[in-house]
Amino acid sequence: MNLPESTKATQLQQLGDEVHNLEASPLFAYRTEHHYAAVIGDGHVDAQIMFIGEAPGEQEAKRGLPFVGASGRFLDELLKSINLQRADVYITNVVKDRPPENRDPTPAEIQLYTPFLVRQLTIIQPKVVVTLGRFAMDFVLDLFQMAERGQKISALHGQLLQANAPYGPVAVLPLFHPAVALYANERKQTLIDDFQALKQFV
Ligand code: URA
Repeated sequence: MNLPESTKATQLQQLGDEVHNLEASPLFAYRTEHHYAAVIGDGHVDAQIMFIGEAPGEQEAKRGLPFVGASGRFLDELLKSINLQRADVYITNVVKDRPPENRDPTPAEIQLYTPFLVRQLTIIQPKVVVTLGRFAMDFVLDLFQMAERGQKISALHGQLLQANAPYGPVAVLPLFHPAVALYANERKQTLIDDFQALKQFV
């Protein structure tokens, strides 16, 4: 059942409070020491399209918002290329706190934050889930028990896959992480091309 916007906003606020107080997280002490914020998500609670990245970087942890650093600027450009703005979509990450020195999140960290992302999906109920990078892709392929589980991002990027979420059918679009655009020019073009698959949902 799709919930009213105000109920969704309240539930997301509650979820944010829980993550804020998540002392059980191995990243909690690092967050507090550096006066960082947990990064819950940004955008429209009724968005049709939800983007999932890996984990916040330094800029994100300083501002408490996802994708506001260099890769976020590229994501904004990609959104603009199909006439979308951040306010039209919802953006979040698998892990809600910054791992030290931007290292990869550990399996234990991913597991700890999993229930929060599952709840965000259940609250927002997007029609399309766009995964940014391999961590988010693996997470979603596993969560929706998709046949493509175990395949590499180099094989699946740009393909609109069909899945069944607990709340109904959903399309999943695996994309390379926007950070690749910062160091690999050919991947940047691939990302621009792959992004066009979202045009039909705009
Ligand atoms: N990279 C991510 O995966 N997420 C962010 O929010 C920022 C950079």
